[in-house]
Amino acid sequence: MKYLIGIDLGTSGTKTVLFDTSGKVIASKTVEYPMYQPQNGWAEQEPEDWYNAAVETLKYVSSFVDPSDIAGVGISGQMHGLVMLDENGGVIRPSIIWCDGRTSAECEEITKLVGRERLIEITANPALPSFTASKILWVRKHEPENYAKCRHILLPKDYVRYRLTGEFATDVSDASGMQLLDIANRCWSYEVLEKLDIDKSMLAKVYESPEVTGKITSEAAAVTGLRAGTPVVGGAGDNAAAAVGTGVVEDNKAFTTIGTSGVVFAHTSKMTFDKGGRVHTFCCAVPGEWHVMGVTLAAGLSLKWFRDNFCESEMKTAAEMGVDTYYLTDKEAEKSPIGCNRLIYLPYLMGERTPHLDADCRGMFFGLSAMHTKRDLIRAVMEGVSYSLRDCLEILKEMGVDVSDMTACGGGGSSPLWRSMLADIYRCPIKTCISKEGPALGAAILAGVGAGIYPSVREACRSMIAFNPAQTPDMDNSEKYEHVYEVYRQLYGCVKDMYSMLAKL
Ligand code: XUL
Repeated sequence: MKYLIGIDLGTSGTKTVLFDTSGKVIASKTVEYPMYQPQNGWAEQEPEDWYNAAVETLKYVSSFVDPSDIAGVGISGQMHGLVMLDENGGVIRPSIIWCDGRTSAECEEITKLVGRERLIEITANPALPSFTASKILWVRKHEPENYAKCRHILLPKDYVRYRLTGEFATDVSDASGMQLLDIANRCWSYEVLEKLDIDKSMLAKVYESPEVTGKITSEAAAVTGLRAGTPVVGGAGDNAAAAVGTGVVEDNKAFTTIGTSGVVFAHTSKMTFDKGGRVHTFCCAVPGEWHVMGVTLAAGLSLKWFRDNFCESEMKTAAEMGVDTYYLTDKEAEKSPIGCNRLIYLPYLMGERTPHLDADCRGMFFGLSAMHTKRDLIRAVMEGVSYSLRDCLEILKEMGVDVSDMTACGGGGSSPLWRSMLADIYRCPIKTCISKEGPALGAAILAGVGAGIYPSVREACRSMIAFNPAQTPDMDNSEKYEHVYEVYRQLYGCVKDMYSMLAKL
């Protein structure tokens, strides 16, 4: 029997899963780590925390089988984070991660240097604070001493790969989020690098997601329990990996994930992009194809923020009952009606990408009344996130991308209440996969293709992914949500100018 490992380096923690070749979970372990916010709108993490979490979780899962039966390792990870290494491979500063919004000025600079249209033509996206390029420029401007020491620039999962294999490598899907890749041709863009004055030698070698990028070194084998020489494939950015893990690997298939961020993702075999840059077009994990996705930055993060700050008693009760706190918050939210007694939440805790591309906007409860209780606020948070995902879906539809086959995944996707909200608000059936391992399974499938166990990503998905019956929309509920969504949609425009005033305070 052969086994495969998928590592999913997320924002709240790293989850590593050992699968057999039918996709069955043999062992799984998650190790959490902090996110630091040194200033409002900034977000950083320590690469060493990621590596330690990978080592600890690999050690645990690899102890379940004979390591020589583990055919390959795939890595999926939070995208966009900037890891800078010196000439000895040492980490120079904490990683500035995907939800950090400090680089608006650098985005303007990038737009000026490359030209907005040309930038979208090459990288398929406008300059965005989340993407790595503006983070590189920020360090160069604000910390020249750190930039001078920098010899290697890696993405979060690729730093872990480097520590496991000694190779500086990345994959096309994750590299797409750096804003330095020529998305149509799947290689670094000389033009963008030259205009931004970034030395190509600092960047990793780019592979397709199922390609083998290196092997576990004997040092890494000693600490992880893996066999030295185990192949490690390119893997994918977390969303592209989730797509593989949910079978979204051909046209008409799409998924919605509610993790820390929320994403509406659709596969496309033809490269297409939104001229306004409101959704991203990236290379996907199926060699030679692409995906488009809308991103709302604080999806699960909104509910986590609410839980951590206002649900102490629920957390205590949940611990006593041995259930997840979100089980109790769901129960509370179910008692509030659609529209939450006229309360609307804008989920812009970390600024917003789709549809506003505004790093300065922030969250809001609109319509608070003395009659509202905690359950209305919890439901408003869940509804607000769902309306933001509907905004993403509307843009994909406008672009003519087929999203008719929709799957829900991520932590939020496993909440029946949140799923039924999505079905009603999208007005379409929503399926779930039997396996809940999304990105980790996707990474393991890619490892299986790289190790020669499956002939292609699509065939691997066909044989390894099965679905639960779909949740169908309730048209009466859809009607009610539609009225609230109308108000939600207009709210941002009404306060847009106030956000930049707020940012200047
Ligand atoms: C995608 C994005 C997030 C991160 C973290 O563009 O920024 O989904 O990958 O999950």
